[in-house]
Amino acid sequence: MTSPASIKIRRPDDWHVHLRDDEMLAAVAPYTANVFARAIVMPNLKKPVVLTSDAVAYRKRILKATDGTGFIPLMTAYLTDATNPSDLEKGFNDGVFVAAKLYPAGATTNSESGVTDINKISSVIEKMEELSMPLLVHGEVTSPDIDVFDREAVFIDRVLEPLLKKHQGLKVVFEHITTSQAVQFVRAAGPRVGATVTIHHMIINRSDMFKGGIRPHLYCLPVAKREQHRLALVEAATSGEKCFFLGTDTAPHSVNVKESACGCAGIFSAPSAIELYAQAFDEAGALENLESFASLNGPAFYGMDANVDEITLTRESWKVPEVIEVPGTGGVAPFMAGKEIQWKIS
Ligand code: DOR
Ligand code: ZN
Repeated sequence: MTSPASIKIRRPDDWHVHLRDDEMLAAVAPYTANVFARAIVMPNLKKPVVLTSDAVAYRKRILKATDGTGFIPLMTAYLTDATNPSDLEKGFNDGVFVAAKLYPAGATTNSESGVTDINKISSVIEKMEELSMPLLVHGEVTSPDIDVFDREAVFIDRVLEPLLKKHQGLKVVFEHITTSQAVQFVRAAGPRVGATVTIHHMIINRSDMFKGGIRPHLYCLPVAKREQHRLALVEAATSGEKCFFLGTDTAPHSVNVKESACGCAGIFSAPSAIELYAQAFDEAGALENLESFASLNGPAFYGMDANVDEITLTRESWKVPEVIEVPGTGGVAPFMAGKEIQWKIS
């Protein structure tokens, strides 16, 4: 079957973004807000978004940075060992918090204040279960004895499976899955568990990080895995199944902190994310499932309506910019900088 020259889909949402703060926020947020109607905003600022009052203030700054676009930031709480279930409940009931994020302490960027042991937040998890408030998990164990490429698979066995068993009503989003084990697990876990799939994990495998030399702009967490896992992610995302939905995990860091002796984890994919997803679905012969993945499955999981307006993607080649200027930094290099993409949003 020949593939169409253009497709229309309901406007997508991004169920996992890092928008940062200050000048970085002002520079990067429009790339998300110009395409996506809503986005789940990660709370891992340098000073994390822990309290409802933190989220109210951060949401205001995001709305200022995206003024005129109609973009709706969906705020999340950063869980710590000391999270107060009553503040979380109030934030959720007041419509400030849509979900809460579990960063195992030390797992990734700005996760130092994260949860040191899931059992320490049992009362918070019970409250979330009672409220049907989704728990978003960065699914990696942090024990130094576990190989970095095995951290997600071990997290399933040691943390996620027991957690879901203990809390039979808890809704969970397994964020940015990177392994065939995670794909299988989510499929089997039933409608209360969903997963986001990033575009970079659909495109790169772990060898790409070392192609011709070390490629710091392809380093993110969870780190990309073997080709067989990439193929499992493509198959899952393009299947149209309700449990898989779009979450870019766009995570900008300035070029100087990426290209360093100890480079930061994170891939800034927002400037070409929807186009690259379209290209990946096209290559998989599954363009007809792009709308489910990008625009329908996420809202259904979160109990929201899908967006009513539509976007059009056209088969048209364009070049991703080499760098996005951010005042006070050396700029941010987007995913696939300088590369040609075959789909374009009109
Ligand atoms: O690569 C990543 N970057 N993974 C994360 O979990 C966090 C993110 C960031 O904030 O930079
Ligand atoms: Zn993230």
